[in-house]
Amino acid sequence: MSNPEKLLAGKVSVITGGSMGIGRAIAKAFLDEGSHCVLAARSEQALAATVEELAAIGPHVRPFPTDVAAEEAVRSLIDFTLEEFGAIDILVNCAGIYGPIGLSTDVDIGEWWETVEINLRGTYLCTRLAVQAMIQQGTGGKIINLAGGGAASAFPRFSAYAVSKAAVVRLTETLAEETKEYGIDMNVIAPGGVNTRLLDQVMEAGEAAGKAHMERSLRQKREGGVPPERAAELAVFLASSQSDGLSGKFLSAVWDDWRSLPGRIPEVMSSDVYTLRRVTPPES
Ligand SMILES: NC(=O)c1ccc[n+]([C@@H]2O[C@H](COP(=O)([O-])OP(=O)(O)OC[C@H]3O[C@@H](n4cnc5c(N)ncnc54)[C@H](OP(=O)(O)O)[C@@H]3O)[C@@H](O)[C@H]2O)c1
Repeated sequence: MSNPEKLLAGKVSVITGGSMGIGRAIAKAFLDEGSHCVLAARSEQALAATVEELAAIGPHVRPFPTDVAAEEAVRSLIDFTLEEFGAIDILVNCAGIYGPIGLSTDVDIGEWWETVEINLRGTYLCTRLAVQAMIQQGTGGKIINLAGGGAASAFPRFSAYAVSKAAVVRLTETLAEETKEYGIDMNVIAPGGVNTRLLDQVMEAGEAAGKAHMERSLRQKREGGVPPERAAELAVFLASSQSDGLSGKFLSAVWDDWRSLPGRIPEVMSSDVYTLRRVTPPES
């Protein structure tokens, strides 16, 4: 029996990138709030270790090795979730890579495109198939995507990442419009600078990451970065009924006062706040 006082009691979640970093923190927070979780990532070993660790928390957690850029693999992930738990209520698209680090004219073309395939196509495929299942269920749903550096401004030497993450935000805004009649809410989280494998990759890239970025990263490494639990807390809010009606928004786990949102969702939804828009001069 699930505890109805928990925010996600009995809800079924799929969390891609759930084997480590921010995805693992989200999985832990969701399990704490009573959700059943299917965790997806490519490495079977990392998934198995995480699932073993999280299984002690309570509700059911299952691993499902998946490459989110591969349509058949994503279809199997959704089918497995429906067979195992009978529904899919929440999808968190957390799987992501930095891709090649360096000047866009120098990096490998194949690696550049692979980044778009994982970050953008992966988010699109998982969302598409989860939305189809949610519409068939007729019970609404919640989709949470992860933005990143470059989504809202230029991110030199990380162009594939920046391009794919900006596109994830616009994909979210667009699909939020397409799915609102089905009671599906879809939002994006900017988690802040979290010390994960991505930061280690910047360290390994050295000079290719650029002097300014390297200095910021070294400082972040030293000072500890933003705890992944900040993004996880926001993800719980966006996955819960507390955020019903809030959709198509791009929220910072660190800088935005998202805890005050429940009382002002209609006001926020009637404006362009928390979206990607063109800035025009005051006189126009
Ligand atoms: N860390 C930050 O400061 C930061 C800031 C802004 C946004 N983000 C975003 O937050 C998300 C999580 O990042 P993180 O920092 O936690 O990174 P991380 O520790 O490297 O975790 C990335 C996760 O994604 C999985 N993944 C990568 N490619 C995949 C694929 N093709 N199919 C399925 N799973 C895949 C990884 O597992 P496998 O490699 O085994 O597949 C892993 O579970 C990413 O979308 C990232 O862009 C992070």
